[in-house]
Amino acid sequence: MTARMIMKLDVAERVDDATDVILVSLRHPRRPALPAWKAGAHIDVHLPDGRIRQYSLCGDPADRTRYRIAVKREMAGRGGSAWIHETLAVGDAVHCSAPRNNFALAPQAGRHLFIAGGIGVTPLAALAYEALQRGDAFELHLRARSRRHAPLLAELERAFAGHLHLHLDDEAPASLDDILAWFGVTADAHLYFCGPAGLNAAIAAAAERQSWAAERCHTEVFQPTLDENFKPEPFDITIASTGQTLRVPADRSALDILRANGFVMPSSCELGVCGACICGYRDGTVIHRDSVLSLADRQDKLTPCVSRARVGVTLEL
Ligand code: FES
Repeated sequence: MTARMIMKLDVAERVDDATDVILVSLRHPRRPALPAWKAGAHIDVHLPDGRIRQYSLCGDPADRTRYRIAVKREMAGRGGSAWIHETLAVGDAVHCSAPRNNFALAPQAGRHLFIAGGIGVTPLAALAYEALQRGDAFELHLRARSRRHAPLLAELERAFAGHLHLHLDDEAPASLDDILAWFGVTADAHLYFCGPAGLNAAIAAAAERQSWAAERCHTEVFQPTLDENFKPEPFDITIASTGQTLRVPADRSALDILRANGFVMPSSCELGVCGACICGYRDGTVIHRDSVLSLADRQDKLTPCVSRARVGVTLEL
């Protein structure tokens, strides 16, 4: 596996958006076009102290002149968003990864229901641009405390008139069951959602009640949802190409052990949310502990930064 390209980009614009949200546009200092990206992609932003944070690209994917991210100041966060809000200025250089996409529009779908909570609208806005460009039917539902707390609102109202539905806490929002029922489950319908953990869980539960098949429901999170009561056990990794076997102790990750044995493994969040470390596996019972792989992907892929196995697993690196 190889590490992804890291680019040094310039902060070309920084504007206040919704309450506690800024929009940051990044451009290459010399090249007019950045690497292409598909709707739903995110980039890693490397902060000066070594921390890495993931931000969805929230503009129109057709615009390759810049990457635009929306950063919400997270009061209970790990400090990355506060640093960006307080420190990052126009003209600063920022190291960023090339885009990675774990949340693409389903190619076979013809109707798309997007439900966002607050800042979770950022990847969904890009997906809505792509749905519009494809000529697909879609609705974009955005829940927020008030208009002032709704990110990208002016742009969404302009770009997605007739598709955008606002659900504001101060204006009696529609229930999730109603939103899903009004849209309706049809053979070509897919559901995409992104928001706080509580909202994501409520949407998933409502979708299940209304018989949306799991493979037609797509979500993305940037906060780990690891079970603190999980008790790790040691297990063995076998490298498919060589037969080499490595022991992963209870207090180390598979990613650590692979690196300690000379394997060059990309990673970013090391929390199971970004997908940078995903690799293939076979012949094992994997304990998936990530928030990024779909049920289908979990059949033959795992995230060695957080996932483990019962007894042993064979990795295809
Ligand atoms: S490094 Fe992000 S999922 Fe493993």
